[in-house]
Amino acid sequence: MSDKAHQQCINPACARTFDVAEVHSKCPGCGNLLDVRYDWDGIRLPKTLRAFEERWADRRNPLNLSGVWRFRELLSFAPADRVVTIGEGQTLLKQSPAVAEYVGLKPDRLFLQYEGLNPSGSFKDNGMTGAFTHGRMAGAKIAACASTGNTSASLALFSAQSGLMRAVVFVGGGKIAFGKLSQALEYGALTLQIDGDFDDAMARIQEVCTEKGIYLVNSLNPFRLEGQKAIMYRILEGLDWEVPEWVICPGGNLGNSSAFGKAFMELVELGLIKRPPRLAVINATGARTLYRIVEEKHLTWNDGHVDDAAIEEDYRQMDERNDRAHTVASAIEINRPVNLKKCLRALEVTDGLVREVSDEDILDAKARVGAGGLGCEPASAASVAGLKHLVQEGVISPDDRVACVLTGHVLKDPNVSVDYHSLPVEAFRKKYAEKFEVTKLGFQNQPIKVPNDLEEILKVLEEVL
Ligand code: F0G
Repeated sequence: MSDKAHQQCINPACARTFDVAEVHSKCPGCGNLLDVRYDWDGIRLPKTLRAFEERWADRRNPLNLSGVWRFRELLSFAPADRVVTIGEGQTLLKQSPAVAEYVGLKPDRLFLQYEGLNPSGSFKDNGMTGAFTHGRMAGAKIAACASTGNTSASLALFSAQSGLMRAVVFVGGGKIAFGKLSQALEYGALTLQIDGDFDDAMARIQEVCTEKGIYLVNSLNPFRLEGQKAIMYRILEGLDWEVPEWVICPGGNLGNSSAFGKAFMELVELGLIKRPPRLAVINATGARTLYRIVEEKHLTWNDGHVDDAAIEEDYRQMDERNDRAHTVASAIEINRPVNLKKCLRALEVTDGLVREVSDEDILDAKARVGAGGLGCEPASAASVAGLKHLVQEGVISPDDRVACVLTGHVLKDPNVSVDYHSLPVEAFRKKYAEKFEVTKLGFQNQPIKVPNDLEEILKVLEEVL
């Protein structure tokens, strides 16, 4: 497959190309991001997307079991025998009438793409299989990332299962949810807790990887994003290959939104779908760089001619304000998203938009997703909270068909769940720092303390049931 693909700088003024086997996290010429590009004429693509379904019948082939490599013609950058797969992407698109009611959609209109079902419990495994496959092609022995927790969990798991590369992870000190930290440690990753936040860890890991020749698996790595395209293929598959009106995802480092935009751009180019869905990317108000850039400063992809000076100036002002990301949704506590430009492209391709949601709205949406029978971590619930806003605004109609990506499992961040349901609001605020603008916990389900006494227990049950 490998002679069908190459890497290319996304900046049209540069557009340098590189062999698929080379390792770069940025264009060595101009410093912009790289894409994986395909010579589609040389790839035997199915005539319709439905043809991919035939692979369900042959699940003993690991490439068909994988919810990523089942679609391998759409990411054919690697020979089949180089693919590193751990059974990622066997996830579900679930209709959710209960959450539809909460956000104001008709009961049959909302679908939740439950990426928490991945082996490491988040969508990252879709991308990590791409990065590990490329890393293996390049002969990498050590793979590294900076992470708010899920990338590190995924990297650590791929490293432990494949035995191909030692995992090194940089996390912000005290910044990552317990479930995620436990995974990195349990799977045996070398874990460095940087005295700083994710943005600091991201800057340092890039320096370290350059200095030491270590393979970087953050979403700067274009092969990561190739794998994440498959989340969109599976949403289409779950909808019997009909394109929904909207896809909604949380925005952090903006790898997902970038990958989703590329997936739809290619499917339209290949004539496999007629139109893309509209993409809504949701920031937390405490980590709102994309919202500010797109909705307040109106910067656009502009056919690749992005106003770099305006972004630089925005970041300078952010530093001047000493504006550090802060949100209870720690996975998206990011102020310098590395894939910003690719996300701008995705928004252009999909006629997309960006919204910001408060921590309070995120937490309430999370509780409704859980009570609706799935369960996700705070960042994932940003997509549902954003949807509720967009319905209230009248941008999304109650009749529109919407797919929200639930990026991570509820068990990733058990502390926030337990504290949300059981603490008084003042204690919650105190614990999660006053700067989280939470004034109420709307859907608490408090545990009830009872004595070890049958009579008393029955009395309580009578009162509450
Ligand atoms: N949701 C979850 C659960 C995440 O872990 C992340 C990112 C996002 C959403 C945002 O996705 O970066 O593609 O915009 N987590 C990264 C990490 C940053 O290190 O695990 P994005």
